Amino acid sequence: MKTVSLGGLTVSRLGLGCMGMSAYYAGAGSDNAESIRTIHRALELGVTFLDTAEIYGPYVNEELVGEAIAGRRDQVVLATKYGQISHVSGNNQAGKSADELRRLDSSPANIRISVEGSLRRLGTDYIDLYYQHRVDPTTPIEDTIGAVAERVQQGKVRYIGLSEASPSTIRRAHAIHPITALQTEYSLWTRDPEAELLPLTRELGIGFVPYSPLGRGFLTGNITKRSDLETSDFRSANPRFTEGNFEANLGIVETVRSVADELNATPGQVALAWLLAQGDDIAPIPGTKQVGRLEENAGADAITFSSDQLERLNRIQLPVGERYADMSSIDR
Ligand SMILES: NC(=O)c1ccc[n+]([C@@H]2O[C@H](COP(=O)([O-])OP(=O)(O)OC[C@H]3O[C@@H](n4cnc5c(N)ncnc54)[C@H](OP(=O)(O)O)[C@@H]3O)[C@@H](O)[C@H]2O)c1
Repeated sequence: MKTVSLGGLTVSRLGLGCMGMSAYYAGAGSDNAESIRTIHRALELGVTFLDTAEIYGPYVNEELVGEAIAGRRDQVVLATKYGQISHVSGNNQAGKSADELRRLDSSPANIRISVEGSLRRLGTDYIDLYYQHRVDPTTPIEDTIGAVAERVQQGKVRYIGLSEASPSTIRRAHAIHPITALQTEYSLWTRDPEAELLPLTRELGIGFVPYSPLGRGFLTGNITKRSDLETSDFRSANPRFTEGNFEANLGIVETVRSVADELNATPGQVALAWLLAQGDDIAPIPGTKQVGRLEENAGADAITFSSDQLERLNRIQLPVGERYADMSSIDR
């Protein structure tokens, strides 16, 4: 597996998103042993950039990752996120789900508590890349980054990241302490970052980490009808998967599949390789909890496109439907 530099942090250019092992998608939490095998196989294949967050579960995804990397910490570039759970006094968390707990809080007081919890659950004394998960409109980003920078000085955090931050927030944050990576949705059906975010991260020397690089599984071609999704699955209410929109979007997969067939590859591999072809400052983090799919996804590292194939992929129609039903927590 090739490596890239994200703002000075060397990572495998394909990472592993661990969220779906414990949260949001059908089957989450149903087979932790297979999830742990998937993480171990990733490390064997050189996929060493692991992504989790405090809110996934909540908490249990960090615990799972911590269990999987016990005794292997030095092989891993470990990324986690804070800022969607408030731990400040008066917030009784007992028995609450992630949805019930969700409250944006990137205050310095909350970060001081969050970081200690993540370190404990991950079984480590340092986090390689610590992202703000969503921008908190009530806390100036300067205060947030200042608090994380103190954790850098203490050796608890190595590099600082942002997720779903707007260009102006990125500039303000970067002025306080170098930002290493921006994690934002980017894929063949989510091209939004190309207008402003990627030019800005390149100007500032910040790496880019595309999340949901497989379009939440849609671009693999594995979801062919809405009934493939259980009602408890987050995607069943996502605007791109709702009735009518889902069917309208299926044509996107057909183009991806036609290129894949020419390369003896799978649609998912093509979706990942297209992201890799966008630059050497990009490290997508496809999510899977299955060893076989991890192996398939890692195969994207070896794919190169002809200019005609790239052109056809670049011209893919934009999807019908927003990225989220509620876009209010996205910083603009
Ligand atoms: N910063 C943020 O706000 C944010 C938001 C969303 C996600 N993320 C991060 O990004 C990571 C990846 O995003 P994501 O999980 O939302 O979406 P994704 O990587 O685009 O797709 C994951 C889905 O595709 C399926 N899949 C994976 N490989 C496959 C293959 N080869 N063939 C068929 N299906 C396959 C997975 O199912 P199986 O697991 O059953 O294989 C899962 O349902 C997450 O794990 C998380 O760490 C961050």
